[in-house]
Amino acid sequence: FKKVPQQYRLTQCLLHQVVYPDNSSTVQAFSEIPGLWKNGVANLYSFWKLDGFKNIHRVMLHNFNTFGPIYREKIGYYESVNIIKPEDAAILFKAEGHYPKRLKVEAWTSYRDYRNRKYGVLLKNGEDWRSNRVILNREVISPKVLGNFVPLLDEVGQDFVARVNKKIERTGQGKWTTDLSHELFKYALESVGSVLYGERLGLMLDYIDPEAQHFIDCISLMFKTTSPMLYIPPGLLRRVGAKVWRDHVEAWDGIFNQADRCIQNIYRTMRQDRSGTYPGVLASLLMLDKLSIEDIKASITELMAGGVDTTSITLLWTLYELARHPDLQEELRGEVVGARASSQGNMLQMLKRIPLVKGALKETLRLHPVAVSLQRYITEDIVIQNYHIPSGTLVQLGLYAMGRDPSVFRKPEQYLPSRWLRTENQYFRSLGFGFGPRQCLGRRIAETEMQLFLIHMLENFRVEKQRQVEVRSTFELILLPEKPILLTLKPLHTDDITPLHSR
Ligand code: HEM
Repeated sequence: FKKVPQQYRLTQCLLHQVVYPDNSSTVQAFSEIPGLWKNGVANLYSFWKLDGFKNIHRVMLHNFNTFGPIYREKIGYYESVNIIKPEDAAILFKAEGHYPKRLKVEAWTSYRDYRNRKYGVLLKNGEDWRSNRVILNREVISPKVLGNFVPLLDEVGQDFVARVNKKIERTGQGKWTTDLSHELFKYALESVGSVLYGERLGLMLDYIDPEAQHFIDCISLMFKTTSPMLYIPPGLLRRVGAKVWRDHVEAWDGIFNQADRCIQNIYRTMRQDRSGTYPGVLASLLMLDKLSIEDIKASITELMAGGVDTTSITLLWTLYELARHPDLQEELRGEVVGARASSQGNMLQMLKRIPLVKGALKETLRLHPVAVSLQRYITEDIVIQNYHIPSGTLVQLGLYAMGRDPSVFRKPEQYLPSRWLRTENQYFRSLGFGFGPRQCLGRRIAETEMQLFLIHMLENFRVEKQRQVEVRSTFELILLPEKPILLTLKPLHTDDITPLHSR
């Protein structure tokens, strides 16, 4: 770390925190930004030796502590400038231009090119992205769709409760201790499926379609096999017939095949009269007739693939935090019970009366973000932390690192949903879904699905955890718990459960 300016090293030794340079000096050149960026191949080797592929979030945290609030990095062919401060995030997003562009995930584009499949909104760029995104926004994220989504998602939430009650009943012990992740994957796919297709996939039942389970497994494999290919060109791995590339192709093939089946199914049922009921995002887009069928299929597949591990893992982390903080769990339960009473069965109203539940989800995404960083290729020269950064550079905001920075969040190690109730500074701090026109397209689905899930769970079960062990996260393109999280669910209303021996 020979490029670390003296002041960082000194203050770090004294305070174990980073102190930032004053802004009074003249702007320094791009080449002066501290970091390890001169030898990508050597850095890739050290990164690999440190098991960096799985620990990228911790490596970033370490780098910020070593170099300060900005550093440059080159690992393999991946080159970036990394920042951590909310004020700097504001500068970054101002420079994202008319067509914001994220880091290109070559593994994903290589698969599409290899199989000759179209890019959807996730992978498109420029005017093609914008024209598709504007139309999709209206059907997927605009406030007007909430009224259509809520009844569908609420029903899935209720079915999840019934399913958990059945599981509890089967144990004969009045509680159920389990690693909920598999149930949550199914819940998430059922939720996103019901919104996209206006129909249930049947994943809350005992016997589920093996194809649907295969789809879930393919999504996990797709994420897992992407991360090594961030640093090693997939074209090269393909030429040498590497297993990681073959697995990646197999995973995407499984995802596309299942999405194609669901889409075909909707084509068939669209001819039937369903007047009066909301037909789902896919049918709405087809009827709107503003995007080509191939474009619709590509984006629907991406929405389906993006809608499983993201929300399920966020819900798992939330339940984990609530199990670790029983008093907070009671407080949230109180809020939900009060909101239910005052909204008299109107779920749209109820969702407006649960600020602490919403704070809990923000708090989960602060400590356990799905995305380790947000990235943009900047479209103009900017100055951050007094360093010049030229247009075209890939700049990453370290979300995981920012969430744990004591100069950004007071007592960052504490899970405090109330910090989001407008008491603390919110400026460029709640960025779990990204920012601006390129932010998460599934945000409204995700937020509604997660809020409804928590409402139902808090109303029906107490969530407990056996031992107070800290679960760390591991990077598989998204952040996942490093080991299974075992939770115990106990019913609050025992009359919902009929013990097996009394029937
Ligand atoms: C907790 C849940 C989720 C989190 C934290 C999350 C986070 C993100 C983030 C950080 C981005 C990049 C945004 C940016 O660059 O500014 C993104 C993009 C995206 N997400 Fe999500 N996401 C979640 C759930 C979902 C769901 C449920 C879906 C689908 C129904 C989805 C579909 C997408 C799509 C299609 C994009 C790409 C949008 C574009 O490039 O225009 N996400 N998400």
